Amino acid sequence: MTRVFSGIQPTGEVHLGNYLGALRHWAEAQHENESIYCVVDLHAVTVRQDPDELRAKTLATMATLLAVGLDPDSCTLFVQSHVHEHPELAWLLECTVSFGELRRMTQFKDKSSRGGSDGVEGVSAGLFTYPALMAADILLYDTDLVPVGDDQRQHLELTRDVAERFNHRYGDTFVIPEAAIPRVGARVMDLQRPTDKMSKSTDSDAGVVMLTDDPATITRKFRRAVTDSEPEVRYDPENKPGVSNLLAILAASTSGDPATLAGEFEGYGALKAATAEAVVAVLEPVQRRRAELLEEEGYLLDVMSKGAAKASEIAADVLRRAHDAMGFVVVH
Ligand code: TYM
Repeated sequence: MTRVFSGIQPTGEVHLGNYLGALRHWAEAQHENESIYCVVDLHAVTVRQDPDELRAKTLATMATLLAVGLDPDSCTLFVQSHVHEHPELAWLLECTVSFGELRRMTQFKDKSSRGGSDGVEGVSAGLFTYPALMAADILLYDTDLVPVGDDQRQHLELTRDVAERFNHRYGDTFVIPEAAIPRVGARVMDLQRPTDKMSKSTDSDAGVVMLTDDPATITRKFRRAVTDSEPEVRYDPENKPGVSNLLAILAASTSGDPATLAGEFEGYGALKAATAEAVVAVLEPVQRRRAELLEEEGYLLDVMSKGAAKASEIAADVLRRAHDAMGFVVVH
C-alpha cells in the first residue's frame, strides 16, 4: 500500500491556500492510502513563538485537521515534538546535506531576508537547517507520496537528493519519496497582491482568506480582490494573475477547470461573487466542526497521544535502520 506523509506548521491561522493546496487532498488520500499527517511544531520554533500561543495554535491546528475530515481511525494524526525520532534523524541528515544546498533554498532566502537589517546574522540556525528536519519527517515513515502545495517543491527535491546520497553512501536505507502537487490550487495567490502566494506571514490579511473567516468577511475580501483594467475574463496566470487566481480558486473549490470556467463569466463582478460563494460553501462545514472540536480539548489530546504512539512504532524502526547503516553501535 502506498504510504502518504505530510505536515503543516501550527503558526497563524490555516488559510485557503493551505486548504486547497494541501489539506483537502490529505482528506482524500486517507481512504486510498496509509496516511500519516503531522502538526510540525518543531518547525514552527525556527522563528520566535510565544509559548502560550504556540500551545493554543497547536491544539487549534489539530482541531482544523479533524474538521477538514481527517479521521484518526483512517489515518495517523500526531504532533511532531511527541515523536523524538524526528530531531534525531534530522541530525543525521544535517550531517548528510551540504551547507551550499541549504543556502540555496529559496524559502530560507525569503524568510532570512525579512530578518531585519543584519540579514542572516539574526535568524536562528534552525531556520537554516529546517529542510533537513523536513527531510527527516518524510524519510522516517518510508513515505512514497508527499501531498504539498507548489511552495514545498524545492524542499521535496532536496529530500530526495539527501535520501539518494545517504543510500549511496551507506546502503539502501530510505524510500525515495515523490511530491504530489495538485493540478489546480497548488499555488493560491494573495487576493491583494496576486503575484505573491497567499501566506500566513503577511503584513496585511486583506488578501488572505482564513479558514475561520465568516461569510461576510470572505465575500468582502473577494469583492475587493485586485484584478486588472481589462474587462475580459480569461485564464492567463502570466498576464492576468488576479483574475486567474480567482478562476483557480473557483475551480479548486468546485472541482472544475479554470480555463473552462472563464467562459462562463461576462465580468469580474460576477466572477468574484461566484468565487466567494463557492469558498463560503466549502468552508462552512469545516468551520462549524472546528468550533465544536475546540471545545473538546480532552479529545484533541487523546487523538495526539494515540497518533504519536502509532507514528513512533514506524519511526523507531526506520531510525534504527539509519543508525545501523551509518555505523552507530545499535544495542537492543
Ligand atoms: P506550511 O505549514 O507553510 O503549509 C502547509 C501546506 O499548505 C501548502 N500551502 C499552499 N498551497 C497552495 N497555495 C498556497 N498559497 C499555500 N500556502 C501553503 C503548503 O505547500 C503545505 O503543503 N515546510 C512545510 C511543513 C512541513 C512538511 C513536512 C510538509 C514540515 N515537514 C514534511 C510535508 C512533509 C510548511 O511550512 O508548510
